[in-house]
Amino acid sequence: MGQYDTFVTDVLVIGAGLAGERAAIESARNGLNVILLSLVPPRRSHSSAAQGGMQAALGNTAMGKGDSPDVHFLDTVKGSDWGCEQDVARLFAETAPIVMREMAHWGVPWSRVTTEPRIYDGKEIHEDPQKVGLIAARNFGGTAKWRTCYTSDGTGHTVLYTMDSMVQKYGITVHDRVEALSLIHDGETCYGAVVRSLRTGELSVYTAKSTVIATGGYGRLYGASTNAVINEGSGMSIAMDTGVVPLGNMEAVQFHPTGIVPSWILITEGARGDGGYLLDKNLYRFMPDYEPNKKELASRDVVSRRMMQHIRAGFGVDSPYGQHLWLDIRHLGAKHINTNLREIATICREFNGIDPVHELIPVRPTQHYSMGGIRTNIHGQAYGLKNLYALGESACWDLHGFNRLGGNSLAETVVAGKIIGEKIAEFTKDVSLNVSTSLVEEHLHLQQGRIDRLRSQKSGKENVYDLRNRMENTLSHNVGIFRTEGPLQEAVDELRELYERSQSIGLRGSGAGADPELGLALRLPGMIKLALSIAKGALVRQESRGSHFREDFPKRDDVNWLKRTLAYWPESAKEPDLKYEPVTITELPPGDRGYGEATATSKSAPTK
Ligand code: FUM
Repeated sequence: MGQYDTFVTDVLVIGAGLAGERAAIESARNGLNVILLSLVPPRRSHSSAAQGGMQAALGNTAMGKGDSPDVHFLDTVKGSDWGCEQDVARLFAETAPIVMREMAHWGVPWSRVTTEPRIYDGKEIHEDPQKVGLIAARNFGGTAKWRTCYTSDGTGHTVLYTMDSMVQKYGITVHDRVEALSLIHDGETCYGAVVRSLRTGELSVYTAKSTVIATGGYGRLYGASTNAVINEGSGMSIAMDTGVVPLGNMEAVQFHPTGIVPSWILITEGARGDGGYLLDKNLYRFMPDYEPNKKELASRDVVSRRMMQHIRAGFGVDSPYGQHLWLDIRHLGAKHINTNLREIATICREFNGIDPVHELIPVRPTQHYSMGGIRTNIHGQAYGLKNLYALGESACWDLHGFNRLGGNSLAETVVAGKIIGEKIAEFTKDVSLNVSTSLVEEHLHLQQGRIDRLRSQKSGKENVYDLRNRMENTLSHNVGIFRTEGPLQEAVDELRELYERSQSIGLRGSGAGADPELGLALRLPGMIKLALSIAKGALVRQESRGSHFREDFPKRDDVNWLKRTLAYWPESAKEPDLKYEPVTITELPPGDRGYGEATATSKSAPTK
């Protein structure tokens, strides 16, 4: 293959966040060769931004007493609005406690149960002296028990650093600052990927017995997201580009109630879990009016909708960045804030110049998570291509259905990493790598051809940044928390046009080497495909379920819509082809979630 570098391995993992690293470790432990690819040095992966914690039913704390995998399973299914795979949710809930203890053994400095009593919601909580020193848990939204294991509010950071140390311990090869541009496949089997260096712009080829996508979510398709700038859904789009791998439930987009205004960085649910309140422009605590039981800790889809409903009712706070609400944690006190919530305190101080010990935090619901992704079976095998796997946020396993509970995704990365990682190791041992040179070169030349066309300025005149801004605005304005047919149809029309135009991008610069304009020009058509899958899936699904709220179809419709969307993009198509499959109900038939009653209202009132 002449001037191109080629790498041959047993397992190629694309994405070195927590899910990718955990799966890679399992293969390495089983004696397989592994190469991990990453856009950034692994410790900069978006997993490091996770704050509040990971759910696992350990039941060590007073408020977690009586917890069990059964209760965790029930919370997860209700949270998903019956959209999840129940066999996956069961497997996850049973395995999570084992994995939390494994993480402790590997070095995660979990916050622990202490002797110190604390006041919560006006009550004094005393821990069982027998449990002091065990892994602690905090309260999170949509859960019956306190179950979210944490290290202050830097859980992603500590777990990722621990995991990356294990990657080094196992001597796993990491190639960072590279991006996978396409999968090498013949329509039936996946053989690896064509990869571009983000330092030199050069292409190389990786062939593997098993290829694993763990590239995280697509938050940056939206204008305002808590996600890192690298989260553009790249793994999902190279899977979709194959024409045979479907994406599941792309219309299921999660908005986190508390992105800080105006940078949209996450302010952890742990702040409300630890006792923080949401206030409106009159400094009135409005959530108990809407959700008398769970208040600020109903599931995320519900809290985000209530906040927007309250803003629409005229109780938002004006700001140059649009209306927002307040998060109040002042009553938790300096000691608690500067220990258990120290990362968000730093974010408030450094990005907004405010001290949350004394001041209110401006917040608004912000895109946060993609429940949708590469559809896989329970073993993490992607639909459509043999020897291709996906896990973590890039996958639709499908643990979360139409609403993920806070703390279930960070846990999913390591739990699925272990479970699916074991399966990958088991299956890979039986695979022999037989890929023809001509197939590899065909895929390589396809990508080189795209680059050459863009660099020769022959591809067209469209400005890549302009197209991207239009895509972001369309999703943000038309495919947000509240959805209706008219704006959704407009979004689909606009995104169809943008996709067409993205075939004629003209670079302003030379596109030499690692030029970011060229990088975006290569990615943007795939990003618009994802955006169109989100918008079309939302337009066609005429019901409300979890985070997908149709104002024109406000009820969940289990008769017609207890099914998962599968979005395919056949070769040369101009938009996704939507198919559907049934949701697996193994234990809990559809019922009432116990929160989110649609008719509740709040009047607000000034506080004294
Ligand atoms: O609010 C948070 O700390 C986020 C947690 C999550 O998305 O699971």
